[in-house]
Amino acid sequence: FRVVVLISGAGSNLQALIDQQTNQQLPIEIVGVLSNRPNAGGLSIAQSAGIATAVVDHTTFGDRQDYDNQVAQAILTWQPDLVVLAGYMRIMSAGLVRQFEGKMINIHPSLLPKYPGLNTHKKALEAGDTEHGSSVHFVTEELDGGPVIAQIKTPINHDDTEQTLVERIKRLEHTLYPRVVKWLAEGEVTYREGKAWRNEQLI
Ligand code: GRF
Repeated sequence: FRVVVLISGAGSNLQALIDQQTNQQLPIEIVGVLSNRPNAGGLSIAQSAGIATAVVDHTTFGDRQDYDNQVAQAILTWQPDLVVLAGYMRIMSAGLVRQFEGKMINIHPSLLPKYPGLNTHKKALEAGDTEHGSSVHFVTEELDGGPVIAQIKTPINHDDTEQTLVERIKRLEHTLYPRVVKWLAEGEVTYREGKAWRNEQLI
């Protein structure tokens, strides 16, 4: 089960997937890592693990469509069964999303449908929420709006800050994301009729 991971930053979720793969806990092969940022920390993580990398630097493209075409081409050369967005901070054009419909997932640090988009930790704190979390969902044309597969939750404490939430949520993501990727690799979770299914039950 061939997996391509897209990143823009530190790559701690990528690291979690690599660790699970190395420990034989995850029946996948990460065949490529693509970053839109040439200096993303996740690129060195991939290289240390001997995984092929590609950089498609969005700042060198005048046009989003050209950029996304390049991204699609790079992904396709790796012939993935699944594309995993792990801190990939570009909005994808409709064409790119459609090309990988049902085969692309994202992890978003909020309890979707709450807080799509940026600054989710800040929004949860400012709203006085008592809990926060992260969601894994299939990618559709609606930003952070595709069918949710699974979530993790954590209570918000009175002394939490954006930083403490970022760190705590990330730690929980590191168990959530590999688990969901495993379900997909083993065919336990599927995508049909625009919806997410687990063992033939609508999620
Ligand atoms: C994660 O919190 C993820 O939910 C969000 O971006 C962050 C990526 O972190 N989309 P990392 O690069 O995996 O460390």
